[in-house]
Amino acid sequence: MKITVVGAGAVGASCAEYIAIKDFASEVVLLDIKEGFAEGKAMDLMQTATLNGFDTTITGTTGDYSKTKDSQVAVITSGIPRKPGMTREELIGINAGIVKDVASELIKHSPEVTIIVVSNPMDTMTYLAHKELGLPKHRIIGMGGALDSARFKYRLSEALGCPSSDVDGMVIGGHSDTGMLPLTRLATRNSVRVTEFLSEDRLAQVAEDTKVGGATLTKLLGTSAWYAPGAAVSSLVQSIACDQKKMFPCSTLLDGEYGLKDLCIGVPVIIGKNGIEKVVEIELNEQEKAKLKESAEAVKKTNGLLE
Ligand code: LAC
Repeated sequence: MKITVVGAGAVGASCAEYIAIKDFASEVVLLDIKEGFAEGKAMDLMQTATLNGFDTTITGTTGDYSKTKDSQVAVITSGIPRKPGMTREELIGINAGIVKDVASELIKHSPEVTIIVVSNPMDTMTYLAHKELGLPKHRIIGMGGALDSARFKYRLSEALGCPSSDVDGMVIGGHSDTGMLPLTRLATRNSVRVTEFLSEDRLAQVAEDTKVGGATLTKLLGTSAWYAPGAAVSSLVQSIACDQKKMFPCSTLLDGEYGLKDLCIGVPVIIGKNGIEKVVEIELNEQEKAKLKESAEAVKKTNGLLE
């Protein structure tokens, strides 16, 4: 199993590191345009192999896509990250061109590849990859919901004062500060709805903190986060590589599901060896449906900037 990660910045390198530590892939190729950067990160990571006990081989390349040949999965993290105060949508001008080029290079060398898009604005970049490549829709996945849900669970465990492993929950909708829809109504602590433990106001605060999860970190770090994004991507890659058929909310091209069409937005999907194997349609209440529709309208507006 060969995996390519394009972009050896903080997110790409974390992603490669977590894939290696989980030790399910034979090879990770890290590619960057900055001379020597991916090679350096790969070498540094390889020097952790005996310490962290993994057998995955990580190699780096400066822009040579022939090295990515026959990858089963490729992750696109390239582009510029947010600076404090910026929205993800503001990155579209620069990142659209980069994602387009990277996606077409990848497919030339790995015609069977499944692509995971991380670059922001993620839902629009996922849509762009679809438009550019015209691949079957199950082979292009936008990473956002998996990350946002991890942040949601973190905020829930903080509010409940319990370990994160007690908590389950999901965030659907667009991967943006206003578009995310943390499903507080359905979140649970050991199968008991969290609404039993937390007041409406506290849950509203949890939802708000989740939605600005990325922005909060960008403010603290001066650039966007990398550990949780890298870990979220590695979980998606593992679900494909090991055909786990796990359910994650991911950005996927919808064709009528949830009453939405011709856009990519986060909804629960099953991830297995074929990429997105199924879109799971769950019953939303009227308020959630309205919020998802509003989120979809905002994503479509950003998609409109591509033209
Ligand atoms: C974040 C970026 C990866 O939410 O979108 O941290």
